[in-house]
Amino acid sequence: MDVFLGEWANLLRHWAHLIVGIGWIGSSFYFMALDYSLSKRERMNPGVLGSAWRVHGGGFYHVEKYTVAPAQLPPDLHWFQWEVYLTWVTGFGLMMVVPHYPFLFSNKQAWMVVALILIAGALIRHYLNRTDAGDDWGKFGWTAPVAAVALLAAIFVTAPLAPSAGGEVSDAQALAITHKHCTTCHAVNPTHEAFKEAPKNVALETIADLKKYAQLIYLQTVQNKAMPLGNQTAMTEDERAALGRWVRALK
Ligand code: HEC
Repeated sequence: MDVFLGEWANLLRHWAHLIVGIGWIGSSFYFMALDYSLSKRERMNPGVLGSAWRVHGGGFYHVEKYTVAPAQLPPDLHWFQWEVYLTWVTGFGLMMVVPHYPFLFSNKQAWMVVALILIAGALIRHYLNRTDAGDDWGKFGWTAPVAAVALLAAIFVTAPLAPSAGGEVSDAQALAITHKHCTTCHAVNPTHEAFKEAPKNVALETIADLKKYAQLIYLQTVQNKAMPLGNQTAMTEDERAALGRWVRALK
């Protein structure tokens, strides 16, 4: 049950982040477009930098931009703050608790991956902003290759390690490992209280089962270490490596 509810909590956190993020990004895009479309006109109010005319939803809008502020702030001023705060809060929640894309953090350089993704993200954003603003490409064009290098570096850092060397692993040994670490959940009749049937219908009770799902087992257990779920059974690196050697020897 706790696993099931955890999945729901994940889903809801993603959903919340998506909704408030759309609000934030949507309003940012709107204001960027608005900024670029402001023009100076005759007889503007004092303090007005420029204004724009818009048509939308059955009416015409006349928007004025004051820099920095009108002489008197109106009582019903709307601040676009919740979109931003909530996107941050829900985004941080995701960074801290969601075990998604385990390959991103199942290595010791996880901090570097985060740093590289942040750098690449900021550069890509900057590139798009400058393009929108019609700047000279020579001034900001460097951001594109640097962002690409940052992303490639992140991919390189998270690449699966070279297969471990070690002795041959027998079928019986492989089965012993999966019986110890997987079959509480991955059985036709699981004993784990959260499951009534094998997750994703993947039962791992016999050698034939292991052979059938060998590649998936390799991916989930050896490469990205998503399994055993939350490493609830405290599977060791040696056991992962041994299971990996067994799968590779199948080919
Ligand atoms: C605590 C329960 C639990 C344990 C223990 C567990 N798993 Fe899983 N496993 C799951 C759940 C839940 C899913 C479904 C995940 C999803 O929907 O993305 C899953 C999915 C999988 C899948 C299918 C992935 C896919 O993309 O189709 C494989 C393969 C797998 N597990 C292998 C293993 C192996 C090998 C072990 C032992 C080393 C193991 N699991 C231990 C709960 C568990």
